[in-house]
Amino acid sequence: MSALLRTSEERFAPMTVGDLDEVVVIENDIYRFPWTRGNFLDSLNSGYSCWTLRGPDGGLMAYSIVMVALDEAHLLNLSVARSCQRFGYGWRALEWMAQQARDHGALSMFLEVRPTNQPAQRLYTRYGFERIGMRRGYYPAEFGREDAIVMRIAL
Ligand SMILES: CC(C)(COP(=O)(O)OP(=O)(O)OC[C@H]1O[C@@H](n2cnc3c(N)ncnc32)[C@H](O)[C@@H]1OP(=O)(O)O)[C@@H](O)C(=O)NCCC(=O)NCCS
Repeated sequence: MSALLRTSEERFAPMTVGDLDEVVVIENDIYRFPWTRGNFLDSLNSGYSCWTLRGPDGGLMAYSIVMVALDEAHLLNLSVARSCQRFGYGWRALEWMAQQARDHGALSMFLEVRPTNQPAQRLYTRYGFERIGMRRGYYPAEFGREDAIVMRIAL
């Protein structure tokens, strides 16, 4: 019951420049190769669909960015704060972003994920994304580059 009450107080809101200090703290905590503040600013300035999810205490729990071009959406970032992981917020953020993409006219959404990122791959596969290919040397890695798995879902 209390979990239900808590959930009803969680809010998605458009990301603004004012969110970026907190966003960057989480980003640096959860990724070995994080986006920079400049990457987030570029996304905001480019008009991408950028969202935050905050808890009842106002703390930032998750954020995500999708770029829509014509009828195709590209999920560029989906992140849940370390202390909030495994509570279903990644799933909820994905649902929210899929709806944003639909609202912007997208018929499909694709993303890249590291082959070593099992939690994210599991989330995307369970959600309904299918693997459609690989991009060679897409990501920076500890020693050189790492390939990306490309996944897609019909919206
Ligand atoms: C990947 C990420 C977004 C998942 O968010 P989350 O809120 O922890 O995930 P959820 O609680 O919504 O989990 C939904 C499903 O995803 C899968 N999943 C999520 N985390 C997992 C983990 N650590 N191990 C295995 N499966 C996992 C499970 O199938 C899970 O369903 P289940 O709990 O019923 O088994 C989050 O772990 C994260 O931000 N990681 C760091 C950043 C990142 O890798 N982002 C994705 C880049 S492509």
